[in-house]
Parts: sequence; C-alpha cells; structure tokens
Amino acid sequence: MFNLVLFGPPGSGKGTQSANIIDKFKLVHVSTGDILRNEVSHETPLGLEAKKYMDQGMLVPDEVVIGMISSKLDENPEVNGFIFDGFPRTVAQAEALDNLLDFKNNPINIVLSLLVTEEELKSRLISRGASSGRSDDNEDVITKRIKEYHAKTSPVADYYKGKEKLVEIKGEGTVDEIFASLSAEISSRM
Ligand code: AP5
Repeated sequence: MFNLVLFGPPGSGKGTQSANIIDKFKLVHVSTGDILRNEVSHETPLGLEAKKYMDQGMLVPDEVVIGMISSKLDENPEVNGFIFDGFPRTVAQAEALDNLLDFKNNPINIVLSLLVTEEELKSRLISRGASSGRSDDNEDVITKRIKEYHAKTSPVADYYKGKEKLVEIKGEGTVDEIFASLSAEISSRM
C-alpha cells in the first residue's frame, strides 16, 4: 500500500493535482473538503454543523473530521493506497492519522507540500469564486482561510519534516509542470 498526503494552503492546487495523481497511480482520493461539502449539500446533521465553520473560513473540529477519515479507511480495505487531500490540517489530526494507519501497518509514505505565494493563492481562489458557487470563495473568507492555515495547519509541515517525510514542490507554473514534479517524487518512492 502507498499512502500520500498532498499538503498546501487553500488554492495551492491540491484538488487539481489529486485528480491527475489518482488517474496515474490508482490511489483512492480522500478529500475532507469534498466529504464535508457533500454533507452540507445533503443537509445532514454533520453538514449543518460543519457549514457554520466552513462559511467563516474556520476549520471544522478535529473529532468530526477524524471520525470521517476513520470510516473512509474502513470502507476501503483492499486498495493500492490513499491520497489525503486537505487532511491532516492540525497536528492532532496528523497524530490521529498516524495511529489509524499504524494500526493497519500502512503508514504515510510521503507528504508532498505545494508552495505557492499568498498573492497567487488569492488570485486563484477569487477567480474560482466567480464560477464555483462555493460559499467560502469570496475575499473575506479567503483571507480567513489563509490565516487559519498559518495558525493551525502550517505546523503539520514541521510534524512531517521531523519524520523525514516532507518534500516541498514548487506549486506555481502550469498544471502539467507541477504534475510532472509530483509524479517524479511519487514514482521514485513507490
Ligand atoms: P477544502 O475543500 O480542503 O479547501 P482548501 O484547502 O481551502 O482548498 P481548496 O479546495 O480551496 O484549494 P486546493 O488546494 O484544492 O486548490 P484547487 O486545486 O481547487 O476545505 C474547505 C473547508 O472545509 C475548510 O475551510 C474547513 O472549514 C473544512 N475542512 C476541510 N478539511 C478539513 C479538515 N481536515 N479539518 C478541518 N476542517 C476541514 O485549485 C484552486 C484554483 O486554482 C482552481 O480554480 C484551479 O483550477 C486553479 N489552479 C490549480 N492549479 C493551478 C495552476 N498551476 N495555475 C493556475 N491555476 C491553478
């Protein structure tokens, strides 16, 4: 099994690149943002609770997200591996993921961290907001999401650096160029 975390701030291209990586390497995509948006659109109790945080650009509480991941792993016992997109987003989530995967004897193999300047992140998300219909793609909420990233999510990079699993990738350029850099790192470790 090969497990990879695609890490980076809002708008760094995690969703875009996950789609390419899944096709090429046949991994199962686990995007907590997509799972949460699905819950919101179906107006489930979890979705209604999560929406309050998402609309303000804040992270949903750890216990909610960790429970979702645990179910997702259990639903897919026989797979090549997982690509985690938008998770873990706090050190507590990273520790919980390690515990879940250790229990299955399939640890995280690599964490690919996309590096993109703040100016580029904002410009990408504002343009996406014109067509996405996402309630968090507006200037105010984008600023809050980036602030939340610096406060709570960027320490996750140090967590994986300490475990010698973090590889930084330039996240600016064409989608194909970035995909080529990501693929080279994955292929060399698979
Ligand atoms: P989530 O859905 O995970 O959003 P995010 O991390 O803010 O990331 P985005 O989906 O906005 O960006 P991305 O990095 O995937 O970039 P994309 O490929 O789309 O989370 C949303 C919310 O859910 C959170 O705020 C939180 O409330 C909650 N949540 C989710 N996970 C959670 C967790 N683990 N814990 C707690 N709460 C959680 O690209 C962005 C745009 O740029 C697109 O338009 C794309 O076409 C464009 N683009 C991509 N690559 C390029 C390129 N190379 N050049 C030019 N444009 C590009």
